[in-house]
Amino acid sequence: MTQSPPKITKAVIPAAGLGTRFLPATKATPKEMLPVVDKPAIQYVVEEAVAAGLDDVLMVTGRNKRPLEDHFDRNYELESALAKKGDESRLAKVQESSDLATMHYVRQGDPRGLGHAVLCAAPHVGREPFAVLLGDDLIDPRDPLLQRMVEVQEEHGGSVIALMEVAPEQVHLYGCAAVKPTGDSDVVEVTGLVEKPEPADAPSNYAIIGRYVLDPHIFDILRKTEPGRGGEIQLTDALQQLAATHQSAAAATEKIGGPVHGVVFEGRRYDTGDRGDYLRAIVRLACEREDLGPDFKAWLRSYVTEEM
Ligand code: UTP
Repeated sequence: MTQSPPKITKAVIPAAGLGTRFLPATKATPKEMLPVVDKPAIQYVVEEAVAAGLDDVLMVTGRNKRPLEDHFDRNYELESALAKKGDESRLAKVQESSDLATMHYVRQGDPRGLGHAVLCAAPHVGREPFAVLLGDDLIDPRDPLLQRMVEVQEEHGGSVIALMEVAPEQVHLYGCAAVKPTGDSDVVEVTGLVEKPEPADAPSNYAIIGRYVLDPHIFDILRKTEPGRGGEIQLTDALQQLAATHQSAAAATEKIGGPVHGVVFEGRRYDTGDRGDYLRAIVRLACEREDLGPDFKAWLRSYVTEEM
């Protein structure tokens, strides 16, 4: 009897970066706590993990990141004040984030790169496949991506990354994948990866975005990965090794770590660590909210007509 592969239940959220693009707001506040309308960006990310069936969440944090832990914990003082006033709707909002998932935390120490942040999750994750969601990447909840990635991992094994087509002049901002097609129009096999290539060296215009489903073999590779671009231990470099090993002849017999597939995402996504994208996320999500949208859109229309 063949053993069914372990079910993916754990999500890792690296949130220990310095957030320098958003200074001075991020001097004492983690960028993941910046509000997107009225919820911190990180809450959308945890909600996305839970919606994909992953309710064991490990957050990789660092200095100045205490507010992240507080946000997902109970706040008895606030709760009892709201309960005394009979303000049920605000009380529910306060309790929402602490009831979402089983939260765990690990500190990265020095921010030595995304690869190093993922490696900090090894003792918690063990030898099961797991998901990684970048804390500053917001995927619109109406365009589910992680569920599809979990399905693809269950079908093919190995690891799955999220890819998005970008304009050639944008490729140098992302990790970039060399791919070949599969039988599914939204799934490709990844044959190689390069971190932030010059346009001339880019193997495609498929950019890596902040969602991953990883085989635990990635930890063995990360332990040996030298600092790469920017002096940081890059997750892309470790994934490149995973993909290359699978493509090589030896892998046909050994199958170390399995293949790397990519799910091509065409939905709405915002990099909330980037000021322009952060503003776009807020305007769009506010316009679409039932409670705020009608008034806000009317104001926005007149602002645009008068000011632009
Ligand atoms: P970024 O490349 O956005 O870096 O990291 P950053 O330091 O957070 O932000 P900027 O560029 O200085 O503005 C991508 C993701 O990896 C995490 C970040 O928290 C973010 O979610 N990360 C990065 C870590 O957890 N540890 C690191 O050492 C580096």
